Amino acid sequence: MTNNIDEFVNELQEKIIEEAKKEYTDTVIEHWTNPKNLGKIENADAYGRVTGPCGDTLEIYLKIKRGKIIAANFLTDGCGPSIACGSMTTELVIGKSLEEAQKITQEVILQHLGSLPEESRHCALLAANTLQEALKNHKKIKKNAKVD
Ligand code: FES
Repeated sequence: MTNNIDEFVNELQEKIIEEAKKEYTDTVIEHWTNPKNLGKIENADAYGRVTGPCGDTLEIYLKIKRGKIIAANFLTDGCGPSIACGSMTTELVIGKSLEEAQKITQEVILQHLGSLPEESRHCALLAANTLQEALKNHKKIKKNAKVD
């Protein structure tokens, strides 16, 4: 019984991926199906949470040491492309200075994903806005307390 269900789920997943391949780049599918840096960071130095007009929410957690992002994670309750965008955004910011991270826009995320269909481009905007929100919150925290 379990084997039949497993087989069914696997077949269904393969069918979904085959369908997705018609619309999305390999990079999008890779980050969607195998997201990097998924989950919370306890005691993060920066945190951003944004809900987009579509109703989906993305959260970004950053660990910062001496002005450099040493770890970045994300969470989302959103669509597949939002998972891909969150994953790509965290990959892009790790190792970057705060100034460099501020330059990561929707366009930069889209370029690294090899683009998204028109109707999913706002998912990259959600990831970019969440990153900027985290960076803004870090500045606020830094103002109130002395952190690296
Ligand atoms: Fe809401 Fe993609 S549809 S983030």
